[in-house]
Amino acid sequence: MSLYSHLQARSPTEKPVTISTLAEMKAAGEPIACLTAYDASFAALVDDAGVDLVLVGDSLGMVVQGHDTTVPVSMQDMVYHTRCVSRGLHRGFLVADMPFASYALPEQALANAARLMQEGGAKMVKLEGGMLQVRTVEFLAGRDIPVCAHIGLTPQSVHKLGGFKVQGREEAAARRMIEEARALEDAGADIVLLECVPADLGAQVRAAVKVPVVGIGAGPEVDGQILVLYDIIGLTPGRMPRFVKNYMDQAATPLEAVAAYVAEVKNRSYPAAAHCFT
Ligand code: KIV
Repeated sequence: MSLYSHLQARSPTEKPVTISTLAEMKAAGEPIACLTAYDASFAALVDDAGVDLVLVGDSLGMVVQGHDTTVPVSMQDMVYHTRCVSRGLHRGFLVADMPFASYALPEQALANAARLMQEGGAKMVKLEGGMLQVRTVEFLAGRDIPVCAHIGLTPQSVHKLGGFKVQGREEAAARRMIEEARALEDAGADIVLLECVPADLGAQVRAAVKVPVVGIGAGPEVDGQILVLYDIIGLTPGRMPRFVKNYMDQAATPLEAVAAYVAEVKNRSYPAAAHCFT
């Protein structure tokens, strides 16, 4: 079946996920299944598998473009891939990453976020950083741009952090992260994304805010899970972080693998202890 006929065959009764759906899922205690995608074909596949939130991550710099970090990714790259993904999606809520240095000033952030929404079709933008981004989040939220605030390990800061490392292990850093989550929520962030932190800190951040907290390597006690698509279907070469599970090991097709991931997020069997940091 071609992608075109595949899209036409979709049930028109299946309502697209909105920001309100995500809040309702949190309130109902239903885990939010999230995954990255970078093109229309995979977007259609993850949509079919029941992924609730689809992120066009700047991880595309590593898994699509072959860079060592996400730093080289440009606005043009993000707009292009977001537009591709938006053509494949019907139900999933589309979030696009703001790339490195594209949101250093609030006005610049607004112009670039508007491009991701108007040209790319994103429904929300994601930016990395804690207290330093509070003013920018407030500026965007005040202009009706939905924002996901990414804290914990922020890969765009890899050269400042000295590598991709677990964050928030020391008490002071953990306390600071909880304060950051609260400040970003107060500034208008609609989702907090928490990367690579001890599982008990994941639970504390979730308890500290009302908005959904989506984790990647942040333990089971958050409102949703996100992973990089290519990692869970075994396409990414090299050593995987502890939180990655390869669902192709027990699947005949990528669609089956993604559906198994969604099922395990929903029934809370992913992440298991082996995928969590202490
Ligand atoms: O760029 C990305 O893919 C991310 C993750 C949270 C998966 O930011």
